[in-house]
Amino acid sequence: MTSIKPFQLEDLFNINQVNLDPLTENFNISFYSQYLNTWPNLFYKSTESTNNEEEVISGYMMAKTEGSLSKNELHTHITAVTINQNYRRINLASKLCLQLEKISEVQQTLFIDLFVKVTNELGRKLYEKLGYSIYRRVIGYYGKTMPDDRNKLDNDIDAFDMRKSLQLDKNKSTIRENGDKVYVLPTEIFF
Ligand SMILES: CC(C)(COP(=O)(O)OP(=O)(O)OC[C@H]1O[C@@H](n2cnc3c(N)ncnc32)[C@H](O)[C@@H]1OP(=O)(O)O)[C@@H](O)C(=O)NCCC(=O)NCCS
Repeated sequence: MTSIKPFQLEDLFNINQVNLDPLTENFNISFYSQYLNTWPNLFYKSTESTNNEEEVISGYMMAKTEGSLSKNELHTHITAVTINQNYRRINLASKLCLQLEKISEVQQTLFIDLFVKVTNELGRKLYEKLGYSIYRRVIGYYGKTMPDDRNKLDNDIDAFDMRKSLQLDKNKSTIRENGDKVYVLPTEIFF
């Protein structure tokens, strides 16, 4: 049976199976701690009970809120959503994302966004299925050096910034069509 529970600092000792994935980012303890201290309700895990009555962490969602409402920028940002290889394709990531959507509606943010590698087709499919669309392509976002040419596309290091507009954004002014053709440099984005 799957349960969704708050993430706790000691869970970091039990997420190797989830984090041993080339598309899952690993952070240092202070980064995880900052999320737990500042946005505890946006950091949660899915767990499965095994036959031995042990609990396995099958995935987690790590998110934050940022931006101000007055600038039309208040939003929820997904920093990581990832699922243990053994528990994929059973709708877990979708559930974790839909839970975030519910919380974000209550907290009245305008939209949810995330960065996903251009080559991460599964990630993109997940978000598209949930109603996210590409807002812009961030050139060289995952690269080792800071790019300076916004027209030099590179699938291996570019990111799509994807967004889903929420109820508070009545005019849908935080999303756009054909965002995959809008190229920006990392230095040109605040969030
Ligand atoms: C991307 C990821 C989170 C999906 O998790 P998941 O729990 O397997 O996803 P779901 O079961 O909720 O699937 C949602 C949709 O994503 C797409 N999808 C997911 N896995 C897929 C696969 N192997 N093949 C094709 N489509 C896939 C499908 O559209 C699916 O909907 P459907 O099952 O109704 O067709 C998971 O593969 C993962 O952890 N990847 C590594 C980390 C990552 O890339 N995170 C996202 C970027 S931040």
